[in-house]
Amino acid sequence: MPQYLFYLGREPELSIAELETVLKKSRLQFSAAREEKNLYRISSSSPLEAPELMERLGGTVKILESIGPADNPAAAIHDYLCRLPAAGKLSFSLSGPNAERLAIETKKNLKSAGRSVRYIEPKNTATILHNNLVATGTDLTMHRNELFVTRAIQPIEAWSERDYGRPGYDPKSGMLPPKLARLMINLSGAENDGALLDPFCGSGTVLIEALSLGFARIVGSDHSPKAIADSERNYKWFAERLGGAKKIDFKLYQSDARELFKRLPAHSVAAVVTEPYLGKPLRGREPRDFVIAQARELADLYTHVFRTFAKILKPDAPVVFVLPEFRYRDEVTSVNCLGAIKKAGFSVCPLSPDSDSLLYARPGQWVARQIWKFQKN
Ligand SMILES: C[S@@+](CC[C@H](N)C(=O)[O-])C[C@H]1O[C@@H](n2cnc3c(N)ncnc32)[C@H](O)[C@@H]1O
Repeated sequence: MPQYLFYLGREPELSIAELETVLKKSRLQFSAAREEKNLYRISSSSPLEAPELMERLGGTVKILESIGPADNPAAAIHDYLCRLPAAGKLSFSLSGPNAERLAIETKKNLKSAGRSVRYIEPKNTATILHNNLVATGTDLTMHRNELFVTRAIQPIEAWSERDYGRPGYDPKSGMLPPKLARLMINLSGAENDGALLDPFCGSGTVLIEALSLGFARIVGSDHSPKAIADSERNYKWFAERLGGAKKIDFKLYQSDARELFKRLPAHSVAAVVTEPYLGKPLRGREPRDFVIAQARELADLYTHVFRTFAKILKPDAPVVFVLPEFRYRDEVTSVNCLGAIKKAGFSVCPLSPDSDSLLYARPGQWVARQIWKFQKN
C-alpha cells in the first residue's frame, strides 16, 4: 500500500478535516494516522496524484511519499538515488535526524560510484522549489527510520499573489485568508456542477477560490455596493489569469443576505460557503456589554440568514459558515444561535471526532473564527 506523509498548515485539525473530505470524495480507499501534531500519514489502496491534490488543498503544505523502511539510512538513500536516471549532475537535499552527516556520506559514496552530485541544504521550501528538487524526486526526508521523497509543495507564490496582488481590496471589512476560503469550500464537499453561493462575498475571496476549483455556477452577494464592485474586479482579474472563464455562470447581487430569497429561486443553490459579517472590529476600548450586545445582534442576523438559506438551498445542501468567538478582556463570548439554526432546518456535521466545529485563531486577536458545517435537512 503506498504510504504518504502530509505536512499540515497552521491549523492542523482543519487541514485534516479538509484532507479527509477531499480523499473520501475521490472514493479512494485509505486509512489515516496522526504521526505528530502537524504530520498525517495516509495509506492508500492506489497511488495518489500528489501534485493535483496539492493544487486542490488549502491546508496542506507538503506531501511526501514513502520509499520504504530504512534501518540503514545511508544505504537506503544511496540505493534510492542510484536508481534515478543518471543524466547530468544529481542535485539532492535531505531533512531529518543527522541529515547533514548522512548527506555528506551519500555524496562521497555517489562520487566514488562515478556520479556527479551536489547536496543542497533544504533551508526552506523556496530552496527546494527553486532547485527543482520536487520534479527530479530528490528532496528526501528521513522520518522514524523510513525514507520519504517530496511529491508536492504548496505553491507559495501563487497563494501570496491571490492574497496581496488582487486589485479590489477592503481592509475595513476584513479579508478571509484565501487558503482558508479554499479549505472551507473543500470542507463543504460540494460537487462543482451545482451553484455555490457566498452571501457575504466582500471582495470575493470565496468566489475566486470556487472559480479556481472549477465550479461551474458561482453566485456572490453582499449588501455593500463597494463589495460587489470589488468582487467583480477581483473575479475578472483572476479569470484572466486562468486564461478566461467563459463557460462559468457567474452572478453577483447587491442584496441583504436575509432578503436573498427575493433574488434567487427556491431550492436553486447547491452549497453555501461564507464568512459572514462578524461585527464591528473591536479596538480594545469597548465595554464588556458592547461585546455581549454585538453577539446578540449577530445571533439575530445569522438566524434570519439561515431561514433564508432554508428557502433557497436544495435538500441536503451543505453550509460552511464562520461564527465569531470574541476573546475580549479574558472572556470568551460566542454567538448563541445554534438552536435557531437547527430550528431553521439544519443539522450540524461534526468536523472532527472530538468537536463539532474547529477554530481558526491567531494569538492576540480579539475575534477567533469558529468553522462550522451544517446540512439542510
Ligand atoms: C467579513 S466580510 C466578508 C469578507 C469576505 N469573505 C472577503 O474575504 O472579502 C463581511 C461582509 O458582509 C457584508 N455584510 C454585512 N452585513 C450584511 C448583510 N446583512 N447582508 C449582506 N451582506 C452584509 C459586508 O458588506 C462585508 O462585505
